Amino acid sequence: MTTAIKTAVKDLKGRLDDKVCIVTGAGSGIGFESAVLFASQGARVVCADIDLTAAQKTVERIKDVIGPIHLSKHAIAIKVDVAKEEDVRHLVENTVKSFGRLDVIFNNAGIMHPHDEGVNTDEKVWDLTMNINLKGVWWGCKYAIEQFKKQDKDKAKKSGGSIINTASFVGLIGSATPCIAYTASKGAVIALSRELAVTHARDGIRVNALCPGPLNTPLLQTFLDTEEKKQRRLVHVPIGRFGEAIEQAYAALFLASDESSFVTGVDFKVDGGLTAAYVTPEGSAAITSPKPFYKAEKEKK
Ligand SMILES: NC(=O)c1ccc[n+]([C@@H]2O[C@H](COP(=O)([O-])OP(=O)(O)OC[C@H]3O[C@@H](n4cnc5c(N)ncnc54)[C@H](O)[C@@H]3O)[C@@H](O)[C@H]2O)c1
Repeated sequence: MTTAIKTAVKDLKGRLDDKVCIVTGAGSGIGFESAVLFASQGARVVCADIDLTAAQKTVERIKDVIGPIHLSKHAIAIKVDVAKEEDVRHLVENTVKSFGRLDVIFNNAGIMHPHDEGVNTDEKVWDLTMNINLKGVWWGCKYAIEQFKKQDKDKAKKSGGSIINTASFVGLIGSATPCIAYTASKGAVIALSRELAVTHARDGIRVNALCPGPLNTPLLQTFLDTEEKKQRRLVHVPIGRFGEAIEQAYAALFLASDESSFVTGVDFKVDGGLTAAYVTPEGSAAITSPKPFYKAEKEKK
């Protein structure tokens, strides 16, 4: 190994050293795995969720993974309903009060409503979905950008702030099992992220949309309660299995870190090849799912 590569590999340990990161939806799934992973890479993490107990559990698990630390210096939990402007404004204000600055916001909280269907979807379901999945991302971007512009840039690392917005593969391709409000909200998150990326590129602020494929998290799996429903989806995934939340968290880690300093305005697909496929391969998946990060770390201890 060359010295340069050795140094790079060593540096990869603290990939978010000294960065202050907000993760919304940190109580479960992608948000949970990301909050723990970010903290393990040196970030100070604000675990934000509408379910405060779940966010507090995430903070406890961060302690399990990074060892005996003064937790309030590394991770805190904040209750937030991302659909409410005041909540999101306070979230950013309290983050800055606690940790002095903000470097990354991962606008990840989202819902898929059980009565979100085709064109006959109830207006209340439409509005709720849009308020959380789209307006919530807008508020997160708005208050993070305001804060990024107020504070000194991280000049050494050439970063003015990173925003990651969780969209979905359904924002890119259509589905015959419709969730019309969800799909429309995710398509809009992709468009909003792209526009903000261009608008704020010369402020040093990067904005990317994470587009997960179908995952093994409660959000999707509660709907897929029969083998037939699961297979109806899996036939479209070239890799041949559902994704894991940790596989999204690793992508978010890259987008949050300065390793992605030239990446902005991207629909970052982490979807097992789903959006690249016409005809998918037959047979079963060759590589099994990775373990969740928290579980893997606990087992090492
Ligand atoms: N699971 C999938 O297959 C899949 C695929 C593509 C995209 N996504 C997207 O990924 C993101 C995370 O999904 P997940 O699978 O980890 O879901 P999850 O249900 O496991 O976690 C979502 C978290 O968001 C929180 N939340 C819900 N409404 C909120 C609100 N108004 N304010 C604050 N927090 C709120 C929940 O309490 C929960 O902790 C979502 O935006 C989702 O749409 C998921």
